Amino acid sequence: MSELIPVLTETEIEQNIHLLARRISDDYRNKDLIMIGVLKGAFVFLSDLMRRLTIPVEIEFIRLSSYGKSHTSSGRIDIREDMALNVKDKDVLIVEDIVDTGLTLTTLAEHIKSYKPKSVKFCALIDKLERRETDCKVDYACHTVEGGFLVGYGLDYAEKYRNLPAIYHLKL
Ligand code: IMP
Ligand code: MG
Repeated sequence: MSELIPVLTETEIEQNIHLLARRISDDYRNKDLIMIGVLKGAFVFLSDLMRRLTIPVEIEFIRLSSYGKSHTSSGRIDIREDMALNVKDKDVLIVEDIVDTGLTLTTLAEHIKSYKPKSVKFCALIDKLERRETDCKVDYACHTVEGGFLVGYGLDYAEKYRNLPAIYHLKL
């Protein structure tokens, strides 16, 4: 039987997002912000975060290929659906569900930079430090954990658990 151990409650998520939205609103005031959510995991986080911002923002999504059940990044990411909005000269904030090795974000940033944005920064619901392999720095993290496999609030295991309103450590 798999076990779900609470990591962040709904209230804690809400409070952390409130603080994060304040920082982003301050940092991107008078800039040309576009937030790019990485599907599917980031859609829940992004939808709550963007509604807390007090500055204008454009929203776009990018869809990457999935690595199946037990995700291990290969460093090669396949773009399933690219952005439709033009990011040239914009201040891009890539919004991920969770950063683990950092290979996905690093490779994705290179892809987005090829469209010549003015700046590119990273925002993640969870910054997971245990297996980091790149020097990619998460500029805005809602929560930091040492390790473990997390689910809920958009995060999945084999496409399940995304709908949980809080975040749990999944013990298989
Ligand atoms: P990275 O390239 O190793 O940083 O992988 C990041 C991606 O792996 C995330 O966007 C997730 O899709 C997936 N992932 C990594 N750790 C977890 C986890 O604990 N729960 C759910 N998905 C995870
Ligand atoms: Mg993801």
